[in-house]
Amino acid sequence: MIQVKDLVKIYRPELNPVHALRGISVSIEPGEFVAIMGPSGSGKSTFMNLLGCLDTPTSGSYILDGQEVSTMTGDQLAEIRNKKIGFVFQSFNLLPRMSALRNVELPLVYAGVGKKERRQRALEALEKVGMQDRIDHRPAELSGGQNQRVAIARALVNNPAILLADEPTGNLDSRTSEEIMNIFCSLHKEKTTIVLVTHEREIALYSSRILHFRDGLLDKEEASVGNTPAVPEEKI
Ligand SMILES: Nc1ncnc2c1ncn2[C@@H]1O[C@H](COP(=O)(O)OP(=O)(O)OP(=O)(O)O)[C@@H](O)[C@H]1O
Ligand SMILES: [Mg+2]
Repeated sequence: MIQVKDLVKIYRPELNPVHALRGISVSIEPGEFVAIMGPSGSGKSTFMNLLGCLDTPTSGSYILDGQEVSTMTGDQLAEIRNKKIGFVFQSFNLLPRMSALRNVELPLVYAGVGKKERRQRALEALEKVGMQDRIDHRPAELSGGQNQRVAIARALVNNPAILLADEPTGNLDSRTSEEIMNIFCSLHKEKTTIVLVTHEREIALYSSRILHFRDGLLDKEEASVGNTPAVPEEKI
């Protein structure tokens, strides 16, 4: 699904260059759930932004779903983002004036999907994360965990090839984090490919493989068994 080779990212190359990634090589198979850990500043978010086609590498190759994306133009990247990538952020990034339903519909608006189908698919995605009873609520009228559920629904509504999550539980308490991780686990069971950044080992253990970053390099890898959801699945 993802093949990355010698990926380098240098910010501000002509000022005082920051070598955020110094040559990362990794392959991620379809249906894998990979967690990325590492100290602050080790390049985790930089790597996620490249995987998510939000930015382009200084050098190296990135093949997503059979396509080389590292040399694409801005317009081509926007299309790939819209079709193949779902992104979940620590801060939710929902539009404050829109309802949960409108927020989830938005990627479909950009994709040119008609009104009726848009609503149907957004409702399905909200149902999947257990938010069908709050579709008219705006972000300020929802809890942190509920907002993150809406954000996950928005990330899923396009049926992306990969789901990327940069510290999705960073703003949540441990109980709510567990609920959110149970959603990721059920998506993993449905064969969604997931890459998730976290500072917490407990969260990383939900994945099937943990990559450890250090100073812009892949320091080591370890297998992870995948935590069993603590909440019965029918409640997710
Ligand atoms: N837009 C940018 N311009 C210049 N330097 C940047 C930019 N974004 C990140 N950096 C630098 O690149 C390095 C890697 O940052 P990155 O955000 O990828 O780290 P991280 O592992 O996600 O850290 P954290 O755990 O704190 O989120 C840091 O030294 C950071 O200061
Ligand atoms: Mg980060």
